[in-house]
Amino acid sequence: MPQLESFRLLLREPRLGDAAALAEGLADYDVAKFLATAPHPYNLDDAKAFLAKVVELRAKGEAYEFAIQRKDDQRVIGLCGLHLKTGRYEIGYWIAKPFWGQGFATEAVRKLLAFAFHDMKATEVWAGWYHDNLASGQVLRKLGFEAIGVEKRHSVARGEEILCNRTMLTREHFGRKKAA
Ligand SMILES: CC(C)(COP(=O)(O)OP(=O)(O)OC[C@H]1O[C@@H](n2cnc3c(N)ncnc32)[C@H](O)[C@@H]1OP(=O)(O)O)[C@@H](O)C(=O)NCCC(=O)NCCS
Repeated sequence: MPQLESFRLLLREPRLGDAAALAEGLADYDVAKFLATAPHPYNLDDAKAFLAKVVELRAKGEAYEFAIQRKDDQRVIGLCGLHLKTGRYEIGYWIAKPFWGQGFATEAVRKLLAFAFHDMKATEVWAGWYHDNLASGQVLRKLGFEAIGVEKRHSVARGEEILCNRTMLTREHFGRKKAA
């Protein structure tokens, strides 16, 4: 697993010592409700189980998760990952609520996309955002993702199917955005 670095952030392999920070961030329903698989409530054991799964999925080449760590104070403020689903790469990400609105998701996901396109040789990357998650829609729009369609996706935290916008970014478009 490479370590990715941006201006303010380090994206690195998640480790057991991150469990408390991950559990604290995901315990907030306002974070969990916008993710497909995070349960609510979410506790330390959930985080530890997730971290064990991360190792297993990476070994199978099915998912590459990165802890998002601030370079200034070393705090882990979220997580982002690239998942191989039915032959397609899809990204997921979250930032703990105290750190919203400072451009951290955009900065981290931009690095994750560079990993997907350059290291993993993806030709396209997919992302879905629930219809009521306007902040995430804006992050993806800023990075150049384009709307493809709409589908219903289950949310474990909400316990129901939610309308989800499907979006996609090609390697060419990502390259053009970076050059612009
Ligand atoms: C979505 C999320 C990752 C954004 O993280 P963040 O670090 O605050 O994102 P950024 O600061 O990089 O960008 C947020 C953008 O959304 C905009 N935004 C925030 N709230 C908004 C709202 N209610 N309506 C429209 N835009 C909104 C911000 O203004 C910013 O855009 P701008 O730079 O053009 O002004 C974070 O809110 C989160 O973790 N949410 C819960 C989990 C989640 O949604 N994960 C993604 C699943 S698809």
